[in-house]
Amino acid sequence: MRRERPGRLLREPGMTEPATTQPAASEPGRPDPALTERIRAHYTARVEGGGGCCGPAAGAAATEPDDPLATLPSFGCGQPTVFAELAAGETVLDLGSGAGLDAFRAAEAVGPEGRVLGVDMTPAMLARARAAAERLGGGRVTFLEGVIEALPVGDASVDVVISNCVVNLSQDKAAVFAEAFRVLRPGGRIAISDVLRNGDRPAAPDAEAWCACIDGAEPAARYRRLLADAGFVDIAVDPPPAGLAQGATYDAAVRARRPAVRPATAADLPAIANLLADAGLPREGLRDAATRLYLVDDGAPLAVVGFESYGADALLRSLAVRADARGRGYGGALLRHALNEARSEGAATAWGLTTTIPELLTRWGFDEVGREALPEALHASAELRGACPASARAFRRSLEP
Ligand SMILES: C[S@@+](CC[C@H](N)C(=O)[O-])C[C@H]1O[C@@H](n2cnc3c(N)ncnc32)[C@H](O)[C@@H]1O
Repeated sequence: MRRERPGRLLREPGMTEPATTQPAASEPGRPDPALTERIRAHYTARVEGGGGCCGPAAGAAATEPDDPLATLPSFGCGQPTVFAELAAGETVLDLGSGAGLDAFRAAEAVGPEGRVLGVDMTPAMLARARAAAERLGGGRVTFLEGVIEALPVGDASVDVVISNCVVNLSQDKAAVFAEAFRVLRPGGRIAISDVLRNGDRPAAPDAEAWCACIDGAEPAARYRRLLADAGFVDIAVDPPPAGLAQGATYDAAVRARRPAVRPATAADLPAIANLLADAGLPREGLRDAATRLYLVDDGAPLAVVGFESYGADALLRSLAVRADARGRGYGGALLRHALNEARSEGAATAWGLTTTIPELLTRWGFDEVGREALPEALHASAELRGACPASARAFRRSLEP
């Protein structure tokens, strides 16, 4: 569905709307509470049938006439349960569950052993969804009040995150994807229908157009970037349809996966050494007490990363992705994982020495420094003592929050 920005702005003379039309969208920590309230009021009006200030009218669900879900209104822009590949017994979380339609569709797909949670911030939507849950949920569908930027859901507790036409409404999409990543179990996946934009978002978004799923819509490249920054891999975001006008919005399907990263065991070391050899990386010091290694595998290691721990300093090492798995985001995701692990071990500074991945390190916030900046503690490293060529460039990044 293509949407146009509404012509009437909210800041007409004499109107008493909140002064909230320029949200600092997707800048963590700077959402505008007045816009959040406006979105809530908008969707309260929509579900209570009074009509919203903008946007297409809520459609009845696209269902067969005798389908019990036919009574539920849809405010969505797609059908994530169609491409989420839900399996029996899975736990599903619906971000911005509205009146519950996709949650109930998911419940049908995961069957009696499965479970579905919906989170929404609008009490009127929750009331509608909860009333339906008594009729349709079979005790397996629960609706929670909350915001998708700070989910009321435990770590690594769901298999699949779905969402339908909601993420574009968030003013802090980085927080939404960080939360989705947190609540997914390693290996879990997201399947999102959302409104995207062909081109950049307006510099001065309009609140009415934001509520109508227009001005918060991001271009596909930025959507991908936000997902990658959160740690997702295998990211697929529909591009704009051919011929779509610059600045117009479109309905897209988005898929991604939380990689199943695990610490390496002694049994993994021979295969890791082979992967490092294939990548032309040093294998010295893999068994040293200071060395931490993490990998994703599919029977054989698909990607590996490590760091050497020297108290407040951590030296990144051994970042390698198998040739057939390159281009799927594993390099960045594993680098991010290693940085988090190093931070949780108490490191305040991460260091890298590389001839091959300076761009990746720069993208993840490292600055190039002279080799003389490397702290004394790192000189114990096998990597530094000879395995790493003198031509390797040195990089540094703070791990402070
Ligand atoms: C366009 S409706 C979509 C509802 C539902 N997914 C559907 O397809 O019918 C957007 C929904 O997202 C909710 N919402 C918007 N921003 C939210 C946020 N930051 N946290 C939680 N819910 C939010 C609204 O209350 C509303 O129910």
